[in-house]
Amino acid sequence: MKNIKFIMILLMATILLTGCSKSTTPAEAPSSQDPAVSSPVDEPAETEATEELVLTLEELGQYNGENGMPAYVAVDGVIYDFTGVMEWSGGKHNGFEAGNDLTEEIKNISPHGVARLKGVPIVGKLAE
Ligand code: HEM
Repeated sequence: MKNIKFIMILLMATILLTGCSKSTTPAEAPSSQDPAVSSPVDEPAETEATEELVLTLEELGQYNGENGMPAYVAVDGVIYDFTGVMEWSGGKHNGFEAGNDLTEEIKNISPHGVARLKGVPIVGKLAE
């Protein structure tokens, strides 16, 4: 009987120790979360910096979607990033080119109007 009790105690001790060692694994989680915590802190700063982008019409011209440049288009003084817009692949769309102020064109020539700008990322504004 004593042997059985001793074995039971040993088993319990083993289970407890295993349990403790497992609990140390989640304890490592906070340290691995630290970089994750720091990156969301960095992200808003980047977003703020991007929103502050102000370009003259001349500067906007280089963002034509060619040679690895992003495709920016100004409408009503707001600069939109068309780089990821499928219809604007290569910075071109139905005879129009990125790097320009297309306010009149989207309002008066396109069949869709400014409604198509919904969801397109805003990157800055046109210098007055
Ligand atoms: C800001 C500048 C824009 C201008 C000047 C412009 C101009 C035009 C024009 C002239 C057409 C008619 C083409 C034809 O007659 O066949 C057209 C059609 C079209 N555009 Fe744009 N567009 C602009 C932005 C966009 C954006 C941002 C999108 C998508 C997010 C888009 C998507 C389309 C689509 C899908 C059509 C086919 C017709 C329709 O579904 O309304 N366009 N665009």
